[in-house]
Amino acid sequence: MPTENPGAILHLTAAGVSVLIDATDGQLPAIVHWGEQLPAFTAEEARTMVAASIPVTGSSTIDIPPRPGLLPGQDSGWLGRPGLRGSFDGMGWSPKFRVHTVTLNGLPVIGFASAETGRVLVTAIDDMERLQLELTLELLPGGLMRSRVKLTNVHRSTYALEDLSLSFPIPAEATELLDFAGSHNFERVPQRGTLRTGTHLRENRKGRTGSDSAFILHAGTPGFGFGNGEIWAVHTAWSGNHHHFAERFFGDQLIGGGELLLPGEVRLGLGDSYQSPWIYASYGTGLDAVARRFHAHVRSRPSPVSADRPVTLNVWEAFYFDHEEEKLIDLAERAALAGVERYVLDDGWFGSRRDDTSGLGDWVVSPDVWPGGLHLLVDRVHELGMQFGLWFEPEMVNPDSDLARDHPEWIMAARNDWPVESRNQQVLNLGIPEAYEHVKKQILALLAEYKLDYIKWDHNRDLIEAGNQLNGGRPGVHQQTQAFYALLEEIRLLHPDLEIESCSSGGARVDLGVLEHTDRVWVSDNIDPHDRQSMLRWTTQLLPPEYLGSHIASGRSHTTGRQHDLAFRAGTAVFGHLGVEWDLATATQDELDILGQWISFYKRERGLLLTGNVIRMDGPDSNVVVHGVVSPDRSEAIFAQAALDSLYPHPASRLRFRGLDAEARYHVVPVFPGNTPSGLVPPQWWGQPTASGALIEPVALRASAHNDVSFPGAVFAGRSLENVGVASPRIHPDQVVLYRLSKAA
Ligand code: DGJ
Repeated sequence: MPTENPGAILHLTAAGVSVLIDATDGQLPAIVHWGEQLPAFTAEEARTMVAASIPVTGSSTIDIPPRPGLLPGQDSGWLGRPGLRGSFDGMGWSPKFRVHTVTLNGLPVIGFASAETGRVLVTAIDDMERLQLELTLELLPGGLMRSRVKLTNVHRSTYALEDLSLSFPIPAEATELLDFAGSHNFERVPQRGTLRTGTHLRENRKGRTGSDSAFILHAGTPGFGFGNGEIWAVHTAWSGNHHHFAERFFGDQLIGGGELLLPGEVRLGLGDSYQSPWIYASYGTGLDAVARRFHAHVRSRPSPVSADRPVTLNVWEAFYFDHEEEKLIDLAERAALAGVERYVLDDGWFGSRRDDTSGLGDWVVSPDVWPGGLHLLVDRVHELGMQFGLWFEPEMVNPDSDLARDHPEWIMAARNDWPVESRNQQVLNLGIPEAYEHVKKQILALLAEYKLDYIKWDHNRDLIEAGNQLNGGRPGVHQQTQAFYALLEEIRLLHPDLEIESCSSGGARVDLGVLEHTDRVWVSDNIDPHDRQSMLRWTTQLLPPEYLGSHIASGRSHTTGRQHDLAFRAGTAVFGHLGVEWDLATATQDELDILGQWISFYKRERGLLLTGNVIRMDGPDSNVVVHGVVSPDRSEAIFAQAALDSLYPHPASRLRFRGLDAEARYHVVPVFPGNTPSGLVPPQWWGQPTASGALIEPVALRASAHNDVSFPGAVFAGRSLENVGVASPRIHPDQVVLYRLSKAA
């Protein structure tokens, strides 16, 4: 490594955000400011800003002020959570790193540098010259910051790494926390609390992101909402074990994250490196602004999905394991008639998989159920003009499978006996090269035999005692996660047009790590629109709508037993990547007609629904959910108003819409792609309703839902829609009204 660097101060700005970084005096970088964009600095002003951030020391504490950097350590007197934990058999557990090089966008920096967006790379070595660090920090064009760190052992003895986490400072004003809990069938349930002295630590040892994952950890000013409050948020982009934390320690507050390593999982020999996942950090005023930075990043990835996402039919809730070629072809024909553009054959087509007790791991089309292979179905689907997708669960094995019988040693286990079963299955150890190659070969063989346009990649259990039998049961979750990403990449390289969905018992693998390799997530196995309103609302905190699998299921929800009108099911689902999951042979002609109308509406509007800025309104009544998308140029918008319970008081408070051009005027029209919601009492400003050109009495709308009804709507200033609002209609619980807004001349 070159000689020691005298240090640098860096100022990065992007999309209204500034990050001021102090890497002077050979110290590891610390963030002096991350938040609202600052004016351009001279070098002198930057130095003054850094000096002005140094606190006075406390009473009876260390003699120099603490300076928790991205990787805080005891060498600087920091006694909170250390960024790096590990040792050479008990030695070298508190290394002191000295910076050697600082580069900004590839160019060395000494003194001061600033840039609009940019990548800062800091290299450092500890004073015993045993460990090297490469710390990367980027401010992306949308104002999203991300950082990761690579640790290399340059010493001949083994370094046992226990934890390598990154921390970002937040100001004292951020006292309220928001992160997520959840379970199968109800993912991403928000939970709030107060940031108190100590550590709020969310640990995940499930070997997958988890239906209960912390997802994004936010800290903000008290009472922050979708449109208000300063918020700082972190997300660990990793699909294996991981953590998120918020720590208040004396005068400092930090939020951060990292991979959670199991005991002895990462042992670095001479020359070995460990690379942490990216930790993303988003700042904004209001949760929508925080989300928008994540969305901008996902939308700018090298292979973003297009706005004309194909309407998808998944056969799971239609037939489950009951595969019959004739019925499945019949469903494909009905789906095509309704306007579906992609057909996905779910679980049950391979090996002995007639239920969930056997066959997982044997990725060969079942000759019992599909004597002629999948050809007839795949060909018919393509003939009907639809894409064909196939379900896999490549990381899993049923003990009752040829794979488990042939290679019991490929099952992940920490001891002599196998871990407890979950959904009758065990985990295939992709860290064993032969196991990895075996499953890859089987998937590639199917991709060679059939024209598959899409893979639904499932993962239906937590990793428990996930060790490697071939090396005495050492933990293997880190390697498994890396192998999973590598397998996806190898397949995508060979099949660049193939789209892959990340599914995991519904929505248990939703994170920015998996999103580097996949194109859609399945939000939840619970398709009940009442519950989906909440899950879609919160999953969009990380991902834009075009990445969220969002289906219209049968009238009676398979997971909750609740019965819902098609208008509510569809009016909920269109704010994502639309699909259908319903045995259409059981639908009435009326339902099929209405479904067709919703699909046509979606096709007409997906350019807006799937590219716009996501807006979620704060309101006085949690049973009224108002959200929408506004086109980037703010000329058009679609909003939805969903009633999740009886409106009390009657009528509901005024409807407000945010994210519009305050100075412009908008024509606001309620739209009913299928029929009107039940219990509708329209407000006066909607104007006189007509059906098939003829005037109808508003009171007639209350009795039952009507098809083909339209209202003229009215024109309002953007500023009025946000600040004054308009009268809300009355509707029954579990009903939705959509509004189309277009800039008036
Ligand atoms: C869990 C998924 O979330 C479902 O959609 C379905 O694919 C089943 N697995 C199949 O076993």
